[in-house]
Amino acid sequence: MSTTREEVPLARPVLGDTEERLVLEVLRSGQLSLGPRVPAFEEAFAARLGVAHASAVSSGTAGLHLALRAAGVTDGDEVVTSPFSFVASANAVLFERARPVFADIDPVTLNLDPAAAAAAVTGRTTAVLPVHIFGYPADLDAFEHLGLPIVEDACEALGAVHADGTAVGARGHPAVFGFYANKQLTTGEGGMVTTSDPAVKERLDAERNQGRARDMGWLDHDRLGFNYRLSDLACALGLAQLERLDELLAGRAAAAAAYRAALADLVREEDLGLPCEDGAGAPGERRGWFVFVVQVPAGRDRDTVIRALRARGVQCKPYLPAIHLMSFYREAFGHRPGEFPVCEDVAARSVALPFFPGLSEGQVERVAEALGEAVRPS
Ligand SMILES: Cc1ncc(COP(=O)(O)O)c(C=O)c1O
Repeated sequence: MSTTREEVPLARPVLGDTEERLVLEVLRSGQLSLGPRVPAFEEAFAARLGVAHASAVSSGTAGLHLALRAAGVTDGDEVVTSPFSFVASANAVLFERARPVFADIDPVTLNLDPAAAAAAVTGRTTAVLPVHIFGYPADLDAFEHLGLPIVEDACEALGAVHADGTAVGARGHPAVFGFYANKQLTTGEGGMVTTSDPAVKERLDAERNQGRARDMGWLDHDRLGFNYRLSDLACALGLAQLERLDELLAGRAAAAAAYRAALADLVREEDLGLPCEDGAGAPGERRGWFVFVVQVPAGRDRDTVIRALRARGVQCKPYLPAIHLMSFYREAFGHRPGEFPVCEDVAARSVALPFFPGLSEGQVERVAEALGEAVRPS
């Protein structure tokens, strides 16, 4: 008699004794917010990346908002960015009543194409917002040549390394990380903004806390601010995850290597597309593995493939959809298909497979088998 096999989940956080111990310590201390774990997590995170400062925030989206404000983005400005990203990177620009101006992506790295970005710059452009998509480092050298302030969306890129050996997030520009539960490091919800500039750090810290400067009591707030604080409970979780970050990143890299081996035949025989290898943009670049996204062969229907995988107990999702073609962006800005052909082609063929540290050999085999059945012509 056949038994129902368990689903292969899309993502699964790795939590253990250290997380439990550090979170319990905070519970027992009674200081659940604005306590010592916040600076401890910030300092440990900055040290890990090799950058001077880090500010913990309540989400990656909140971090993007504050980083754009710190870069001086304001009403009526334009920010050049990638349409192939999670919607938050473009939404954060709108929070400041500025306009996200999209430019097409590189077909190999899937990051914002520097030449297309340069062509999109106008007299109203006040910043560039590259996204290190799927953990692959964006070409910061090229964006720096544009001579505009840069805010990096590194929400998917913890552990990624640039060609010159610096960690993504340690280049000095405000760089924003996300700690949602599917990320390399999780605090449940949360984020971090890194910067080399002490004035930016001071501004981030004040604006995440209702506009209160460090030396002010509860009675005065000297600027507009928000509640974008990260709690001590979340920071304790972050400290525990940071302790095991090498293990978490290695677990993801091992899962990616297992997929590459298991899918090699499908790549050769059916032209399945895999994430680019390290060094695809420039030698020395390294991905911080976040998701494993394949591109169904041209001419196959991606949604049919997704339905077939799900029917075989393999969780997966169409990831990522093009931002400019989302209904809100179409209606607000009049975007239409055909504007960014590389992004649109990639977005229409992308499928994110189950991916997390500890994905077993058996699970990889099941996914590969299901994908083969879904993709090979019958
Ligand atoms: C590229 C990118 N930008 C921004 C975000 C937003 O982060 P959060 O969900 O923590 O607000 C995410 C997270 O999903 C992301 O993947």
